[in-house]
Amino acid sequence: MNTNTKLTFHLQPGGSLNGAMRVPGDKSISHRSIMLGSLAEGVTEVQGFLEGEDSLATLKAFRAMGVEIEGPQQGRVVIHGVGLHGLKVPDAPLDLGNSGTSMRLMAGLMAGQSFDVEMHGDASLTKRPMKRVTEPLTLMGAKVDTAEGGTPPLKVHGGQALHGIDYQMPVASAQVKSCLLLAGLYADSPTCVTEPAPTRDHTERMLHGFGYPVKVDGATACVEPGGKLSATTIDVPADISSATFFMIGAAIAEGSDVTLEHVGINPTRIGVINILRLMGADLSVTNEREVGGEPVADIRVRSRKLKGIRIPEAQVPLAIDEFPALFVAAACAEGETRLTGAEELRVKESDRIQVMADGLQTLGVEAKPTADGIVIQGGPLGGGTVESHGDHRIAMSFAMAALRASAPITINDCANVNTSFPGFVELAAGAGLKISQTE
Ligand code: S3P
Repeated sequence: MNTNTKLTFHLQPGGSLNGAMRVPGDKSISHRSIMLGSLAEGVTEVQGFLEGEDSLATLKAFRAMGVEIEGPQQGRVVIHGVGLHGLKVPDAPLDLGNSGTSMRLMAGLMAGQSFDVEMHGDASLTKRPMKRVTEPLTLMGAKVDTAEGGTPPLKVHGGQALHGIDYQMPVASAQVKSCLLLAGLYADSPTCVTEPAPTRDHTERMLHGFGYPVKVDGATACVEPGGKLSATTIDVPADISSATFFMIGAAIAEGSDVTLEHVGINPTRIGVINILRLMGADLSVTNEREVGGEPVADIRVRSRKLKGIRIPEAQVPLAIDEFPALFVAAACAEGETRLTGAEELRVKESDRIQVMADGLQTLGVEAKPTADGIVIQGGPLGGGTVESHGDHRIAMSFAMAALRASAPITINDCANVNTSFPGFVELAAGAGLKISQTE
């Protein structure tokens, strides 16, 4: 589907969510499966791949660089790896759509190639900061051009000798960490990245799964050059970031009882569980198991009155993509919820602090944006028309808000829900959300 199509969500107020369901595959892991599978030696088989536009953008980019990739067909992808030095120069610039993960991680990989590559994206991606990756890559000896202001498009010049660095990341970003570790595969000495707070570690885990050693010591992860990736099989768990909408919908809507199956509960991703529990949610994690190096479980949420909290800053990187939905939970909670230390939310697919504050205010909620967070007073939700600004997570969060609204909610610009959650409308409607869409 074309993300430029204007798509509008229409929600009738009220209802509850019920049933057991599996949401689509984890976006972060899906991206990495294509990247590492392409650079491995041998054939990698992926199950549970997210067939959303973001991970498909990565898949198409590697196909454009000569990698034979079968599928996706019902989440199955077969990647015929070309080895670390087997990529071919693409015929045209790589179009990465809405996907910041594709662009930032690939900037590191492309820096190690022998050819030049141009990468561009849609209007949202074109506004997002890339200096956070181009500056440390430059320290490694890479040559990367950006637009004025350090935004895309990126032109990565190939054929540069890369040197390992010991880098202290100024922001807690898994994308920056991953970019540098991937560039480090092509450097002539070890590359170490130290993070100011724990961020998702899927790259480290997956490198390990492909037989490439990564040394992790506290906040520092290091790779040494000279290794190789050996093809493997990958079972992508359901995305906790997508499960979040149903967890929060069930928490706020009286009479709800939802079980999300086979959800990835990597400790670097479970901020939403921790925060919902602090708010008093009735949430249980069962059937914990490990699947291909990633912990997985079923998550059951039943409705219960929530209370406003001060969100611990240590949880911020662990719930970074879940805040739009958590703000809806805060609006439905009793008392005040205060978030600080989350300025990163301003440079996601939209300015998620401002856009959520605007939408909540439209619904009659007292929501005050601050430089690095928001203060939300729980209270009754009305209806109205809110703007998602083409941000998938904003659109799905306001859809769930309708469960507690007193009047219909219209959400504009929702086509990008397809970047991370194809089938959201159908799955949500099946669970009890009163949702329809028009083009
Ligand atoms: C991602 C890391 C996060 C997250 C993004 C996916 C990843 O970004 O917001 O949706 O796959 O590494 P940052 O690492 O920049 O916070």
